[in-house]
Amino acid sequence: MPHILITGANGQLGQALASQFDAAEKLTLWTRPRHDISDPAIADAVSETAPDVLINAAAWTDVDGAEEAPKFAFQVNALGPKYLAEGCARCGATLVQISTNEVFAGDMGRFYHEYEQTSPGSVYARSKAAGERAAAATLDRLYIVRVAWLYGAGSSNFPAKISAAADRLGALRVVNDEFGNPTYVPDVAAAIAKLIETQLYGIYHLVNEGAASRYDWAVELMRLTQRETLPIDPIGADEWPRPTTPPPHAVLVNQAGTSLGINLRDWRDALHDYVQTELTR
Ligand SMILES: NC(=O)c1ccc[n+]([C@@H]2O[C@H](COP(=O)([O-])OP(=O)(O)OC[C@H]3O[C@@H](n4cnc5c(N)ncnc54)[C@H](OP(=O)(O)O)[C@@H]3O)[C@@H](O)[C@H]2O)c1
Repeated sequence: MPHILITGANGQLGQALASQFDAAEKLTLWTRPRHDISDPAIADAVSETAPDVLINAAAWTDVDGAEEAPKFAFQVNALGPKYLAEGCARCGATLVQISTNEVFAGDMGRFYHEYEQTSPGSVYARSKAAGERAAAATLDRLYIVRVAWLYGAGSSNFPAKISAAADRLGALRVVNDEFGNPTYVPDVAAAIAKLIETQLYGIYHLVNEGAASRYDWAVELMRLTQRETLPIDPIGADEWPRPTTPPPHAVLVNQAGTSLGINLRDWRDALHDYVQTELTR
């Protein structure tokens, strides 16, 4: 097992990656402020640490906040991967750069394969797309792993918030015209572990199988937690105003991973596991 370095190790995906690689011969976990990926000096720190594989799970993930602070979002999401890639190039490491379904405009009815042109809309999406390009311009041994609608341990994700809101309010209003791939972070971490063994570098869409609207996701969560009688009102995204408009249908297709036998299970099966692990009531 190679020496794995994970940045953003306290984040939602970072924690799942840390658990996945717990048995690695050598595992190095970086968090900020000590290891800030927007600091150019991070390149030296990477080359001195000399991992075999660096997985960058650190990012500015406040999508709405990025509109107010584009400079900082680009500093973390675009320059961060560039500095990390420079460090990897110097020490011969492989980089796994985590990216997002939001690099696509998400036109209704479209499904996005790995080979398609990016078309980011928001500041956050543009900063993530720039991060993909910056890493690719610097390093050949690079996997770009796009994920979507992540959830796992903790309270900062859609199912945790919906579950808490259901308890608090006794009824829900949930957007039914925004679609994505609900994706459980332990499944992504396991898929990345398989992917890095292939040494087949490139772009991958590692998401749980199947698409859902946020409404579908909430309905399934209520069913799995024996709250199927709780009223859920389907609403349009325009009834849930936000500073940014999310892509309505940035649904990813995992074609590249599937061709290597790297498949993630159906999103409903993963949600069932999440309920058992995180929401046992
Ligand atoms: N969440 C989603 O639904 C989703 C969807 C598509 C793609 N993604 C992508 O998936 C990846 C992981 O997301 P996540 O949900 O795990 O996010 P998260 O929980 O917000 O974790 C991100 C981590 O990055 C750290 N971080 C932020 N700025 C940093 C910096 N300058 N230097 C070092 N660390 C920094 C944060 O540190 P603090 O703990 O100190 O804030 C946090 O621990 C990101 O690349 C994100 O763009 C996420």
